[in-house]
Amino acid sequence: MLKTALTARLAIDHPIIQAGMAADCGVELAAAVSNAGALGTVGTIGRTPDGLEQELARMKAATGRPWSVNIVTFDWAPFAGSLLDLTIAAQPPSITLSFGDPLPALERCLAAGIPAIVQVQDFAAASAVLTAGPAAIVVQGNEAGGHTGRRGTLSFAAQVLDQAGDVPVVVAGGVATGRGLAAALAMGASGVLMGTRFKATHEFGGPSTGLLEEQRSSIVQSNGDNTVWDEITDIALGMQWPRAIAGRVLANRFTEKWLGQQEALRKEVAAQEQMFAWTAANNSSPETVLNWAGESSGLVHQVLPAADVVARTAAEAEQLLRDASRVLEPVPASS
Ligand SMILES: Cc1cc2nc3c(=O)[nH]c(=O)nc-3n(C[C@H](O)[C@H](O)[C@H](O)COP(=O)(O)O)c2cc1C
Repeated sequence: MLKTALTARLAIDHPIIQAGMAADCGVELAAAVSNAGALGTVGTIGRTPDGLEQELARMKAATGRPWSVNIVTFDWAPFAGSLLDLTIAAQPPSITLSFGDPLPALERCLAAGIPAIVQVQDFAAASAVLTAGPAAIVVQGNEAGGHTGRRGTLSFAAQVLDQAGDVPVVVAGGVATGRGLAAALAMGASGVLMGTRFKATHEFGGPSTGLLEEQRSSIVQSNGDNTVWDEITDIALGMQWPRAIAGRVLANRFTEKWLGQQEALRKEVAAQEQMFAWTAANNSSPETVLNWAGESSGLVHQVLPAADVVARTAAEAEQLLRDASRVLEPVPASS
C-alpha cells in the first residue's frame, strides 16, 4: 500500500484522486472510485442546483468512504454561487476547487470545516493558495484533458513542491498509469489526480450511449499526439473561461475546421439566439463532438472498470518504487 501525506489527510487507501468532470461524472463513477479506496469526485458543471442536490443525496447513500465534489470558481460558471452554497450545506467529506479565483470559496469551505483540495494552473495562484489553508494543492499541467493552463506539469510541480511545506501536493496532467504516480511520488508529491484515464471507464457518463462509446474508443485509439489545446472549445460553447485557460480535446473534424478561424466561429455561435444552440447542433457526432481528453490518452489502451484503474495504477506505482533503487549503480564499498 502506498501511504502518503495525502492518504493520511483524506483517509483514503490509495493516493489517487478522480477528477471532477462536469455533469458526466456522477455517482456511478465517483462511488466506484471511492469504494475502491481512492477519492471519487462528483462533477458539477452543467448541473442545476436541484440536480446537484439529488446527486449528492445519491452519493451519500452509495459510499461510506471519503469523496469529493468539484466546484469551478469563476464568475461566469452557470449557477456557480448556488452550487457552492448547496454543496457546503450538504457537508461532503471534501470539496475540490479549480479555475479563476478559488480563494473566496476556499475560505467558505474552511469556515464550514470542510477540507478543500485546490487545483491551480500557474505558480502565482499556487503561492496564494498555499498560504490559505488547503487540505491539498493540485498542480495541473498543460498536458491535461479538459480545461487547463499553460504550464507544463513537470517544472510546475517541482516549483510548487519547493514551496509547499506541509501541504500535500498532487500532480495532474499526463498521469494515467502507475508510472506517472510513481514519478509524482518520487519527486516528493503525495498523489495524483487523473481525468482522461477515468473518462475511459465503464462508469463515466452514466447510461451508455453510442456517442459516449465513440469518445471512449477515440481515447483508446489515440497515441497521445492528436490533442488540441485552444480557445475554440469555449468559443463553440459560448463560454468565457478565465484568461490563459483553454480546453484540450482530441482532434477531429471540428478542430480541423476551426483552428485558426476563431473569429469566424465566434460570429457563427453569436448568430444563434439560444445559448449552447450551436454546440447542441454540432456535438452529436464523433467527428464534431468536443471530446475532452489529454495527452495521457496515449497511455489508455482499454476501457476498464474504475476500480481496476485504481488497483492497477496503485500496484504498478508501488512495484516501480520498490524497484527504483535499481536505477542507481551500487556505490563501491571503498568510497
Ligand atoms: C473529460 C474531462 C472533463 C473535465 N472536467 C473538469 C471539471 O469539470 N472541473 C475541473 O476542475 N476539471 C476538469 N477537468 C480537468 C481535470 O480536473 C484534470 O486536471 C485533468 O483531467 C488531469 O489531466 P489528465 O486528463 O491527463 O488526467 C476535466 C478533464 C477531463 C478529461
